[in-house]
Amino acid sequence: MIQTVATTPYPDQKPGTSGLRKKVRVFQQPHYAANFVQSVFDSLDGFAGQTLVVGGDGRYLNREVIQTMLRIAAANGFGRVLVGQGGILSTPAASHVIRKSGAFGGLILSASHNPGGPDEDFGIKYNIGNGGPAPEGVTAAIHARTLEISEYRTLDTPDIDLDQLGTQMLGEMTVEVIDPVADYADLMETLFDFDAIRALFAGGFTLSFDAMSAVTGPYATEILERRLGAPAGTVVNGTPLPDFGHHHPDPNLVHARDLYERLMAEEGPDFGAASDGDGDRNLIIGRHQYVTPSDSLAVLAANAHLAPGYARGLKGIARSMPTSGAADRVAQALGIPLYETPTGWKFFGNLLDAGMATICGEESAGTGSDHVREKDGLWAVLLWLNILAVRRQPVTEIMAEHWARYGRNYYARHDYEGIATERADALMAELRGALPTLPGRETAAGAVSTADDFSYTDPTDGSVSAHQGIRIGFADGSRVVFRLSGTGTQGATLRVYLERYVGADGELALETADALAPLIQAADALAGITRHTGMDEPSVIT
Ligand code: G1P
Ligand code: ZN
Repeated sequence: MIQTVATTPYPDQKPGTSGLRKKVRVFQQPHYAANFVQSVFDSLDGFAGQTLVVGGDGRYLNREVIQTMLRIAAANGFGRVLVGQGGILSTPAASHVIRKSGAFGGLILSASHNPGGPDEDFGIKYNIGNGGPAPEGVTAAIHARTLEISEYRTLDTPDIDLDQLGTQMLGEMTVEVIDPVADYADLMETLFDFDAIRALFAGGFTLSFDAMSAVTGPYATEILERRLGAPAGTVVNGTPLPDFGHHHPDPNLVHARDLYERLMAEEGPDFGAASDGDGDRNLIIGRHQYVTPSDSLAVLAANAHLAPGYARGLKGIARSMPTSGAADRVAQALGIPLYETPTGWKFFGNLLDAGMATICGEESAGTGSDHVREKDGLWAVLLWLNILAVRRQPVTEIMAEHWARYGRNYYARHDYEGIATERADALMAELRGALPTLPGRETAAGAVSTADDFSYTDPTDGSVSAHQGIRIGFADGSRVVFRLSGTGTQGATLRVYLERYVGADGELALETADALAPLIQAADALAGITRHTGMDEPSVIT
């Protein structure tokens, strides 16, 4: 029986580019999740009888909110829901299932790389039929609806058994509990040379994949250990836990320190990798060789043709503006276009849909291709493995050869977290105001040559996104970028992206910190970071 439940709006349900993200306690308020889900459906047209995909990264509240979603979907007239067994679907797997099943859209439950548990984070994101995040028009409509909602439709039915594969009925709607891994693993088999990778492992190559007790555990175990024959134990922290084992499931050098240390050890594995809470980010570390996400994008693009799925070459490469220019040099050498987009995956989606780019990446450890419409952590790991299986060289050698050909972009990101919003805004406003006066200014990194506030015109639809970050360029090709995070939950986070380019005939084996020291000094002198924030040092360096 369909029930109509009276409710009142919550004023804080504005979805960002990654959906609605809040503390678990916020989501636990009466009708909170239901209001949002009904608002999503109220903002969409034409889904009667259609398919919806539902799944999440398994964090605390995942199962409860899925039951709420299923009832509301049934009461609103969806014909069928595909839900991952146990409520599990990684973000890239959800994107694939949406595309493959021709679904109307999907609801993904995750707060990505943010911690999980009763006192931590939760989130809901709506993806459209192309498998990618809802565009701004849709999220704006959802937000407007959340402010007016007065009732939602649901059913008075018992919970669906999310662990039982197969079909169940919920009112008039079919609920199909699907294997969350199989379709995705099959897709990977079409892109990569599994025989070659299997032979690599059979030859004694060792990998440590840290699933960070998050969603990629089952995917990595199936693909790496079962289908590719890597020894048991290759996947560590492979069981998704509601609180991620109290870990922060963010695959960077701070939160995946253990893995880093194992790879730097004398007798460490040949290759290390990790993924985040919902499986869209990646960390790549070779034995004795950390690979920055910007370099990883460049190496993957330069070698993608070694994998069957990309043997015919790339249509173009896209990178977010703060990502280093390493990929630009590869695009140039390949004679293909390079697109520089604002931060955030949604800008890539348009380029992929239009067939203008094949591979994309961000400095924040997101890399992916046109196989789905989300970034994809395991995909990046498998492309690396395919390249290693063909080239049969250690990562140190692959990187050295890459830099010897293209030059090296030394790179780091300094995050200043938890700054009072007014202070962060003041820093940015002052810097913006000073832009016209900066060219010619002498700094520790030499004279400033260019200074602007990045604005992007989307080549697919002509839409303009302005104020996407301040770029300051130097004569030798070095660059500092300043922008405020759009995903933080407490105060403001200032991100300072530092990049120094050294040509192929220059010094290619410097320590990153040494290579960047003059730029770090210049960044503070230009923006007054310490003066504005009161912080002498960044909170996190990646
Ligand atoms: C951060 C990353 C950005 C990524 C986004 C969502 O956004 O910097 O590259 O697309 O998370 O995963 P930010 O907090 O910088 O706005
Ligand atoms: Zn993520």
